[in-house]
Amino acid sequence: MPNKQIIAVVGATGAQGGGLIRAILDDPSGRFAARAITRDVTSDRAQELARLGAEVVAADVNDTGSLVRAFAGAHGAYCVTFFWDHFSPEKELAQARNMAEAARTADVKHVIWSTLEDTRVLVPLSDQRMPTLMGHYKVPHFDAKGEADRFFAESGVPTTYLLTSFYWDNLIHFGMGPKPGADGTLNFVLPMGDRRLPGIAAEDIGRCALGIFDQGEDVIGDRIGVAGEHLTGAKMAAALTHALGREVRYQAVEPDVYRSFGFPGADDLGNMFQYKRDFEAEFCGARDLDLSRALNPQLQTFAQWLARNAGRIPLEAMEAKE
Ligand SMILES: NC(=O)c1ccc[n+]([C@@H]2O[C@H](COP(=O)([O-])OP(=O)(O)OC[C@H]3O[C@@H](n4cnc5c(N)ncnc54)[C@H](OP(=O)(O)O)[C@@H]3O)[C@@H](O)[C@H]2O)c1
Repeated sequence: MPNKQIIAVVGATGAQGGGLIRAILDDPSGRFAARAITRDVTSDRAQELARLGAEVVAADVNDTGSLVRAFAGAHGAYCVTFFWDHFSPEKELAQARNMAEAARTADVKHVIWSTLEDTRVLVPLSDQRMPTLMGHYKVPHFDAKGEADRFFAESGVPTTYLLTSFYWDNLIHFGMGPKPGADGTLNFVLPMGDRRLPGIAAEDIGRCALGIFDQGEDVIGDRIGVAGEHLTGAKMAAALTHALGREVRYQAVEPDVYRSFGFPGADDLGNMFQYKRDFEAEFCGARDLDLSRALNPQLQTFAQWLARNAGRIPLEAMEAKE
C-alpha cells in the first residue's frame, strides 16, 4: 500500500510492541503499516506477525547500525527497553541512547519512547525511606528509563514520552497472582496499603500508542500516561474473587517485607510499590483514565481483563512452588 506510513516497532514479539503491531494491523483506517523488529526473524512469534501482515525485520537494540537500518523509511518508531532480561539500568540507558540516535539518523518523524518516572526526583538517594540499589538508584527499572528521556530530548528527534502502568498480565507471567495460604484461601499480596495501583492490560498499551501516533504532531514533546484503572489491592482482590469464583483476600504487607521475599528483583519491586504508595496522587495523576480511553476506545477494565484471562492465572502451580 503506497500511501501507508510505516511504524517500526521495537519489542514487536513482546507485550507492548506486540500490542501495537496488532493494533496497527486491526486498525480499520489502515493508515499505518506495521514493521516488526526482532532479533530473530525466523522465530515462531516473528513468523506469526508476518502471517498477520507485518513486515518483519532484524535488529538488536545493542547495535545502533542495525536500528538505523530497521528504522529507515519509517514515519514512526516505538522504542522500548527490556530491563527484566538483564536487570541492568546501565544497559537500558545505552539501549535507549542507541534508539534515540538511530531514530535521528533515520530521520524518523515521530518516536514514542516507553518510559517511566525517575523516582529519584521525589526520593533522592539520601532519602532513607527505601534502600538505594545498585549504588545509584531507588527503583532501577524506573530510574534508568526516566534518566534516558534526555537522550530523546537531546537528539532532537520528535518524541512523545509514554508512561506505562503495571500490567495485569503480571498475575499470569510474573508470579504476582494470588497464592494459597495455610488455610487454603488465596492471598493477593501487594505492599500498597490502601492506596491505588494504576494497572492496564498489556495489549492496551500498544492500542494507546496507536492513538498517540494518530494524533501525530499535536503530542510531540508531551508526556502521556496510560492506565485502564486505578485500583486498591482490596478492589483487585474483590474482582479476583468474583472472576475466580473463589475467595481472594488482599494481604497488604510492608514494603520491607516485600523486599525480603528474595526473588530476583524483589528489592527493586518493593521500592517501586512503595513509591507508588507514597506518591499515589502524583503517580495516578500522571495516568489519566479518560485520556487513555480517548486514545484507545477498547481500553479494558480489570474486570473485563479478568473475564478473558482469569483462567490463565496459575493458582495451584504457585502453591506447588511454595
Ligand atoms: N511488567 C510490567 O508490569 C511493566 C509495566 C511497565 C513497564 N514495563 C517495562 O516493559 C519493558 C519490557 O517490555 P515488554 O513487556 O513489552 O517486553 P517483553 O514482552 O518481555 O518482550 C520483549 C521483546 O523484546 C525483544 N528483545 C529483547 N531483547 C532485545 C534486544 N537486545 N534487541 C531487540 N529486541 C529485543 C524480544 O524479542 P525477540 O526475541 O523477538 O528479539 C522480546 O520478545 C521492561 O523494560 C519493563 O520494565 C513492564
